[in-house]
Amino acid sequence: MKTVMLVFGTRPEAIKMCPLVNELKTRNGIKTVVCVTGQHRQMLDQVLKAFNVIPDYDLSIMRAGQTLIDVTANILNTIGPVLDEVNPDVVLVHGDTSTTFATSLACFYKQISIGHVEAGLRTYNINSPYPEEFNRQAVSIISRYNFAPTQQAAANLIKEGRNKESIFVTGNTAIDALKTTVSETFDHPYLKWAENSRLIIITAHRRENLGEPMHHMFKAIRRIVNEHSDIKVIYPIHMNPIVRRIADEELANCDRIKIIEPLEVLDFHNFLSRCYLILTDSGGIQEEAPSLGKPVLVMRDTTERPEGVKAGTLKLVGVKEEEIYSNFKELIENERKYNTMAHAVNPYGDGKACKRIADILEKASGKLYI
Ligand code: UD1
Ligand code: UDP
Repeated sequence: MKTVMLVFGTRPEAIKMCPLVNELKTRNGIKTVVCVTGQHRQMLDQVLKAFNVIPDYDLSIMRAGQTLIDVTANILNTIGPVLDEVNPDVVLVHGDTSTTFATSLACFYKQISIGHVEAGLRTYNINSPYPEEFNRQAVSIISRYNFAPTQQAAANLIKEGRNKESIFVTGNTAIDALKTTVSETFDHPYLKWAENSRLIIITAHRRENLGEPMHHMFKAIRRIVNEHSDIKVIYPIHMNPIVRRIADEELANCDRIKIIEPLEVLDFHNFLSRCYLILTDSGGIQEEAPSLGKPVLVMRDTTERPEGVKAGTLKLVGVKEEEIYSNFKELIENERKYNTMAHAVNPYGDGKACKRIADILEKASGKLYI
């Protein structure tokens, strides 16, 4: 019996790892152990509940206003005894958060194999996204299994000299999650509120955007809403207090902008599937929206998801007010431009990534383990 331990801590990791937890639990030859760091608290718990995943271990490290050092140090200080007790054959981490980096570092120190889910995403700009580009590159140096979501991600790893036998193109588990959530019959009072308008969904949280760039984003959005009376905005706001303060300064007191608490993932995916357009700096939403045929204006200077840009559903619009404003305006006023972006494509997989990863781990020969 192999012991596979999954460690995650933030909302997006949970959305992409919970379907894998549930797939691994169906495999006879695998003992599945879940450890959450609790880097996020409420936003993590929302997802665990949605996927019926009950963690075996919870490090509960979140502190309001935590710094990168707090998160990293608190995980390193608490995860050691859990690794000793579970003694896993492999630890699966996801993507590029501080949970991912700190857990991988702890596993490296203890000579435990790491399986990296969503491996190989790159901007090759160490400051963007910050600190995620560093985190994911660092994990790639020490991971034994690299589960790349796309050929492009696999190519990045090969270019960096990673062992070809460690790389598996699986698709992104985000699409597995999406297949279980979107429903034609979904209804919600907020969707009723937006029924006769064009619904815009916005999200924003990136660390490098906290401050002036976020003011720029929200100012641009506010201008468009003021100029177009048929637009309504729903903004499920991140729990970061800095984001909340900036949103309050720029977007409050407008009856066509609803700032609401983070949505349950099932609700959020259905909101995405019903909206007209998305403005975001999120990573995961850049994977979900293309398969729903929804155009996304990515309010960032870089993206590690070039597949969606190539496919035409994502457009990078930077973090300056005028650039965001003019791109948003164009999509609202130019139907032809909108229609060229609004088509469903799925560069991120067929919804079977979890099955592939579980198959690989089930079949892996003992010698792949340290
Ligand atoms: C983290 C990840 C980022 C990921 C994002 C997803 C790092 C360095 N950053 O960024 O890669 O894209 O999660 O959302 O790992 N908070 C709560 N409750 C919650 C969640 C957050 O109150 O459930 C507040 C806390 O005050 C916390 C702050 O938000 O201090 C920031 O959380 P943190 O995990 O440090 O950073 P994120 O910006 O969420
Ligand atoms: N999401 C959610 N509720 C919300 C907003 C987002 O469930 O109110 C989901 C979204 O579908 C995606 C993930 O959260 O799967 C993205 O998380 P976030 O933007 O916090 O992080 P990132 O993907 O940028 O790391």
